[in-house]
Amino acid sequence: MRILAIETSCDDTCAAVLDGGGRLLSSVVSSQLIHADYQGVVPELASREHLRLIGPVLRRALAEASVDLADLTAVAVTSGPGLIGSLLVGLSLGKALAYGLGIPVIGVNHVEGHLVAAALAFGEERASPPFIGLVASGGHTEIVRVTEWGRWELLGATRDDAAGEAFDKVAKLLGLGFPGGAALGRASDAGRRDAYAFPRAWLDLDRGGLDLSFSGLKTAVKLFLDDRGWPERPASAAQRDAFVADVAASFQESVVEVLSRKLWKAAEVTGIGRIVVSGGVAANPRLRNLLDEGAEARGIELFLPPAHLCGDNAAMIGMVGLQRLRRGECSRYDLAAIPNLDDWDGSYVPIETIYPVG
Ligand code: KG4
Ligand code: ZN
Repeated sequence: MRILAIETSCDDTCAAVLDGGGRLLSSVVSSQLIHADYQGVVPELASREHLRLIGPVLRRALAEASVDLADLTAVAVTSGPGLIGSLLVGLSLGKALAYGLGIPVIGVNHVEGHLVAAALAFGEERASPPFIGLVASGGHTEIVRVTEWGRWELLGATRDDAAGEAFDKVAKLLGLGFPGGAALGRASDAGRRDAYAFPRAWLDLDRGGLDLSFSGLKTAVKLFLDDRGWPERPASAAQRDAFVADVAASFQESVVEVLSRKLWKAAEVTGIGRIVVSGGVAANPRLRNLLDEGAEARGIELFLPPAHLCGDNAAMIGMVGLQRLRRGECSRYDLAAIPNLDDWDGSYVPIETIYPVG
């Protein structure tokens, strides 16, 4: 069995090939650089870049896996949520390839993809349901309960900015570039986590509230910087570096403290002692340390995929596709892109209805 996976939901153009055992034969991720000039993802540019990059990325994924199109068993492709123009590039290609080759197409929910990233890294038996999942990226901050593969429910989500979006916006204020989450994380190494007391939006945590909010924090940092006369002050380079490090570390602490305490609460209220974390923000070293320590203290089994599987990639999409195939499920060839998570209905059809097996 050979599954081709395609992911183009935001600004990473990705393709991967997996075998029937969920082993990764290749995974190519091309992160679009064009958005750095605009300090944010420009949707129209993203879809044009996907058009330019998807051909070479796909060919490279096939070549690295030593697989021809004719060898493929199925195509798994992200059908939502994401930017509509970006989604359409990968989805149209995936559907056309599958239809042309006479093999099933499986439309995959991007969030579900992040939730199986740990299964790719640690094995489907170990990082397996039931578990609490946190997906924290530039576009998502969701806490979910996964009861079995393919069945998950939302326990809480951000009411405004995603965690990665907050990292990116504060990094931009501090002049750390875009996307600046990783740079902010590095800058924080030299800073004091308690230098400044930025707010934490607990949103009824004590009563089991699992929703999140990061836009107030971002605004608090902005007002604080304005108040300190940033970026004109402080004047000396050494003072500026120290200031940036302290702000970065204090801001980061606010985000990671809220994320981790929400996770412990989710584990407590559901009685589930296994946690899977994914999305670009899961690459943050301070978050990983805090989660490691907290999980150990609470006897919780924690799965943190390596950084390359936390960020957007097609391997995780292929893994969901494989799980669907094993259950005899696929999508119809007229599958549409679904930009919003709220609109996701998760309907799959038995493979036989569109594809004569055997
Ligand atoms: O999952 P991802 O690659 O794409 C989206 O679906 O958004 O996540 C990218 C996000 C960006 O906001 C980026 O700044 C953030 O993840 N990010 C980080 C780190 N590495 C990436 N945020 C904090 N610390 C990091 N080390
Ligand atoms: Zn993502």
